Amino acid sequence: MRSLISILDLSVEELDELIGVANDIIDNPAKYSEICRGKKLATLFFEPSTRTRLSFEAAMYELGGNVLSVTGAGSSSAAKGESVADTAKTVSCYADIIAMRHSKEGAPLVASMNATIPVINAGDGGHNHPTQTLADLLTIRREKGRLDNLTIGLCGDLKFGRTVHSLIEAMARYTGVKFVLISPEELKLPSYVKSIIKEKNIPYVQTTDLEAAMPDLDILYMTRVQRERFFNEEDYLRLKDSYILTPDKLNNAKADLCIMHPLPRVNEISVAIDNDPRAAYFKQVLNGKYMRMALICKLLEVL
Ligand code: CP
Repeated sequence: MRSLISILDLSVEELDELIGVANDIIDNPAKYSEICRGKKLATLFFEPSTRTRLSFEAAMYELGGNVLSVTGAGSSSAAKGESVADTAKTVSCYADIIAMRHSKEGAPLVASMNATIPVINAGDGGHNHPTQTLADLLTIRREKGRLDNLTIGLCGDLKFGRTVHSLIEAMARYTGVKFVLISPEELKLPSYVKSIIKEKNIPYVQTTDLEAAMPDLDILYMTRVQRERFFNEEDYLRLKDSYILTPDKLNNAKADLCIMHPLPRVNEISVAIDNDPRAAYFKQVLNGKYMRMALICKLLEVL
């Protein structure tokens, strides 16, 4: 039995296999429509979510399975003091697989150590978000045709942005990748993530200037400033508008730039960009469902 807590739990070959399955699901959905018949997914979301929870649930329904759901810590026995370990043991009695989001870093790992069914990390605090990375990888592959030889600009809250941390872990395993880390000083990439880049001698640039970095980028991955992780509102208010992508800022961008964002968006990307053919963030949303379908099939060993 396997869980997915970090994107590094999957080898590059397995990522390739999941991308292949997701593409096959896109082309042949009927082939998969009964594959999880009789299986149950428990979505345990102790933090807000729209995309991740609903895409997991849509994924399980489209595989012919069923869903049990906890939304918000206040509606489960966590509000009465139940531990993550006990919750995981309990839910193992009802479901075949768990997708868990939690505000505490490491909570899905603790769940996986106590559950008797696979656990998927659906986002743990400011740490990791491996299934968003699966969505991102499929999007990059479909939009750029490759996962290697890319210059990837990551812009915004690189400190608390868990999707950035998982994406760097994943992309650092492909050849010819270069990272451009664009953030305010206070929201720089944590050293434990930066050390991954350094240890592999991957070229990287750290800057506060999005427009200066723009011409080099194959991918621009915008992120929201993560208000919920700040210790005080004053700092958030000072930093929240650090980067707002507007059409004029794309004047020096490549014609085939791929603009990504894990969403939700606050104001980091002007809605005027949504119809630009380079905007891929709503494709990411859909790709997330297909990759979660592929992942559920893999962890339930039904393929
Ligand atoms: N990208 C993402 O995790 O979105 P949600 O918070 O809506 O799930």
